[in-house]
Amino acid sequence: MILIDGKKAAADLREELKKEVLSLKDKHNKVPGLTVILIGDLAPSQIYVRNKEKSANEVGLKSEVIRYPDSVEESEVLKKIDELNNDDSVSGILVQLPLPKHIDKQKVIEAILPEKDVDGFHPMNVGNLSSGYESSIPCTPLGCYLLIKKIEPNLNGKKAVIVGRSNLNGKPMTQLLLKENCTVTITHSKTNDLKSECLKGDIIVAAVGIPELVKGDWIKKDAIVIDVGINKTENGLVGDVAFDEVSKVAKALTPVPGGVGPMTIACLLKNTIECFKRNLGD
Ligand code: GUN
Repeated sequence: MILIDGKKAAADLREELKKEVLSLKDKHNKVPGLTVILIGDLAPSQIYVRNKEKSANEVGLKSEVIRYPDSVEESEVLKKIDELNNDDSVSGILVQLPLPKHIDKQKVIEAILPEKDVDGFHPMNVGNLSSGYESSIPCTPLGCYLLIKKIEPNLNGKKAVIVGRSNLNGKPMTQLLLKENCTVTITHSKTNDLKSECLKGDIIVAAVGIPELVKGDWIKKDAIVIDVGINKTENGLVGDVAFDEVSKVAKALTPVPGGVGPMTIACLLKNTIECFKRNLGD
C-alpha cells in the first residue's frame, strides 16, 4: 500500500512555487500578495491562518492578516474587502470561515472580486469551474486532485465515488474528476447502501465529516482512497476513513493528519500566484 505523503507533496509544491515567485519578481518587479481576513478568535481558525501566513512567507509571497473581533459590523468587513479589491498589491483575498452569525457569509463571498477569490467560492468561479472554463479552484479539492494524479496520471474512464456533497469539497471535486474523464458518483450521508456505491470506486474521496465512516469492506481492491475528514474524537484526530482496515485493501491512502491538510495550504499559495498571473494577463 502506498501511504500518500501529503507533507512531502506540499513541500515539493511549495518549492516549485518559490521558484515561480522569484521568476515573477524578476519579470514584473513585484510579488503576488495574499490578504487573509480573520474574524473572532476560534482556535482552529487561528491555527489555519497562522499556517497560511507562515507558508505564504516561505514561498516569498507578500502576506497580510487583518484581524477583527467577533463583534465587528458586517459593513466594516465589506468596506475592507472593497478596499482590498481596489488595491493592486493584493492578488488574492481570503476571508476565513466560519463567520460569526451576524455576518452573512454569502454576502462576504460575493463581495470579493472573482479575480481575487483565492478560495474559488464566488458563484462566478463556481459556475466557471462547472462549465469547464478557467477559474479559481477551491484549495482542498485541488489538493486532493493533485495527490490522485501523482498516483494515477491517467484517470480516463475511472470510476470515482465522492462521499459528501459540500460546496467546499464534494461538488468541486466532482468537476475536477469529470474533466479528467472519470465517471463520477456523488454520494452523501443519506445515500441508500453507501457501501455498495463505494465498492464500485477506483477512486474514493471521503469528505463527509463522519469519523471512520468508510470501512475496509467498502473498498474495491487497489482503489485510491483520499480522506478529507478531520474529526476530533476521544481517540484523537481521525478521518472519514477507517485507516487500519482500508490500508489492507487500498492501493494508496492518505493519512490524517499529514495527507490532504498540508496540500490545502500549498494550493492556496498556488491559487494566489494564479490570480496574480491572470490579473496581469501573464
Ligand atoms: N475554513 C476552513 N477551511 C477553509 C477554506 O478552505 N477557506 C476559508 N476561507 N475558510 C476555511
